[in-house]
Amino acid sequence: MRRILVFDSGLGGLTVARALLAAGQGRVVIDYAADVAGFPYGDWEEGALRAHIVSLMGRLIDAAFPDVVVVACNTASVISLAALRAEHEVPFVGTVPAIKPAAAQTRTGIIGVLATPGTVKREYTTALIHTFAFHCKVILHGAPRLARMAEDKLAGCLVDPEALRQEIAPVFTEREGRRTDTVVLGCTHYPLLRAEMEDVAPWPVTFIDPSAAIARRALEVAESCDDHGEIRGGKVFLTAAEERLRNVLEKEGFGEMVVIR
Ligand code: DGL
Repeated sequence: MRRILVFDSGLGGLTVARALLAAGQGRVVIDYAADVAGFPYGDWEEGALRAHIVSLMGRLIDAAFPDVVVVACNTASVISLAALRAEHEVPFVGTVPAIKPAAAQTRTGIIGVLATPGTVKREYTTALIHTFAFHCKVILHGAPRLARMAEDKLAGCLVDPEALRQEIAPVFTEREGRRTDTVVLGCTHYPLLRAEMEDVAPWPVTFIDPSAAIARRALEVAESCDDHGEIRGGKVFLTAAEERLRNVLEKEGFGEMVVIR
């Protein structure tokens, strides 16, 4: 059995963890790490966040002994993947906004990208647009509250449809008779609100959720590592002992909680 550590600032990584559990059942053990003390990453300054993630990852690797780490967070991936790979030996699978598949499948040529305020500011994201979607009109929107709304939903709060409509409205545009037809969910928290987004969207669009593709890639990488035989697992690593998060993760099937500071 191989051990995959799914890392996010909060519960967004669950979208990838669920896909991994569905596809890798019985083949891998999934541990989950949430940097609750650092949430939300979307508001951090770039250099400070990169240094924070690289150092925290060292402590998580020492505690969890993963074969593969999935950085199930776009905000973290776009700024720290290169530094993580330079600093730590374990293989990393990142999550970056799915602009390439969106550009390949749009028919109107108008793509919306919903991401955190941090992700939209990063050069990595601009480079993805220039490389893969240079022939499209791309509306990049840093949604200030969406990640928090997804966390609240999982903790049992009702989603306010009007607040949600306002968060996603900027990516819906109409030009010369053509409208946005494809919206990239560029933060792992957002697929948790997909059904609600479909309800409040001004017109139907294809929402792109890359979780399944990331899970497939992580399994491929994991299966190229040595098999350790039987492992007991499914631990949760939190950077603060937050009951609310722990309860959600327990319901998702994760076990023992370890606090890493
Ligand atoms: N889940 C994270 C992402 O994919 C970000 C949420 C946050 O911490 O702001 O970008």
